[in-house]
Amino acid sequence: MKSYFPINADRIREDLEALARFNSTPGEGVTRLPFTKEAREACEFLKERFRAAGLETREDAIGNIIGVLPGKDRELPAAAMGSHYDTVYNGGMFDGQAGVISALEIARCLREQGIKLERDFVVIAFNDEEGVRFHRSYLGSYGILGRDQQQAIRDYKDRDGISIREAMMSWDMDPDRISEAVWDWKKVRAFIELHIEQGPVLDSEGLEVGIVQSVVGFRRYMVTVHGRADHSGTTPMDLRSDAVDTASRVIAWMGDFARSLNDGTVATAGYLRVEPCVENIVPSSCEFSAEVRSEHRESLDAFTEGLKKMLRESAELCKTGFEIVEKMDIPPVKLSRELCDRLEESCRSRGFSHKRMHSGAGHDAQEIASACETVMIFAPSRDGRSHCREEWTDFEDIAKAAAAAYDLVTGL
Ligand code: GLV
Ligand code: MN
Ligand code: MN
Repeated sequence: MKSYFPINADRIREDLEALARFNSTPGEGVTRLPFTKEAREACEFLKERFRAAGLETREDAIGNIIGVLPGKDRELPAAAMGSHYDTVYNGGMFDGQAGVISALEIARCLREQGIKLERDFVVIAFNDEEGVRFHRSYLGSYGILGRDQQQAIRDYKDRDGISIREAMMSWDMDPDRISEAVWDWKKVRAFIELHIEQGPVLDSEGLEVGIVQSVVGFRRYMVTVHGRADHSGTTPMDLRSDAVDTASRVIAWMGDFARSLNDGTVATAGYLRVEPCVENIVPSSCEFSAEVRSEHRESLDAFTEGLKKMLRESAELCKTGFEIVEKMDIPPVKLSRELCDRLEESCRSRGFSHKRMHSGAGHDAQEIASACETVMIFAPSRDGRSHCREEWTDFEDIAKAAAAAYDLVTGL
């Protein structure tokens, strides 16, 4: 058995299982959307666990949970590590959560081993990384980066018409004070995010650890096609205005376009909402998400251009109108080569099989990378499954990735 000393895989399991109880869909995967009762319970649980580990713990102005293990020299730029505590609808108990609990476990180990780091070690659990409630990711990490989010907070709404602003206020948070969450990035040496891979590479190649050197870029649009409700039997094809006829042409184009590029680009219309959604009524409205992800900026640009052209042409053919709103535009990023090298060194000395790889999933780390040296470390996902209830990663594999992160943190 390869050593992941001093990381304790049982403790990681216990905490992840405890966190998984804060879930609005028990028995059907984990659902913990931002600013819900389950998310509040998860925050309180995390704060209690952080305090029990001896961390100076607080919740910031945008709902991130932060714990600090003081170092010898509190003026030195800190090492930070974490991931997110929200989930998708009916997701797993590992996505994001494994990174939060691993960072906590590293803090616990440091204390137990009597190791006082030179610099502070900051553990962070981000709010709303997934972006599935308000169709926009990275609320918490944008908060500490100080990105301008006021428009999104005011205008972006969930399926029930509740805005981010209203959701924040339901948590007694003041949306006008989010600038209090911004970090001074001169005081941060590095950010590390441990995450499950969420894809098949490590599992299929039988590898134990992934060292992430780049993260995919993506764009997300919300499209609303406006048609007219009419009788489906009596309205001739040339006199109807069918929102789904329009949308389905565009959606079919998206997949075909991504396949035709043959460069790893993927396109997804994961959210679709039809009104009035009745068999014998011509659809009056069809709202759908159009998301593209790619390592190549040119492919993202080509998708955007093609999407708009297809929308214009299909709307003209079907006599409909449309609106398109850009929700996200995240460039592809390269992570810190220096930190990748250090992780590789740790994997070598511990005997963990590993490879350098790319992330096709989005992560808080890709935005944090604009502010400080950043790296990610992956643990294998069984059968590559994620964003579904079948998501699974062995706790010992999380412990191995955490051990490599532990070496990195103690080496800084
Ligand atoms: C988050 O998991 C994302 O990649 O959208
Ligand atoms: Mn995640
Ligand atoms: Mn996710």
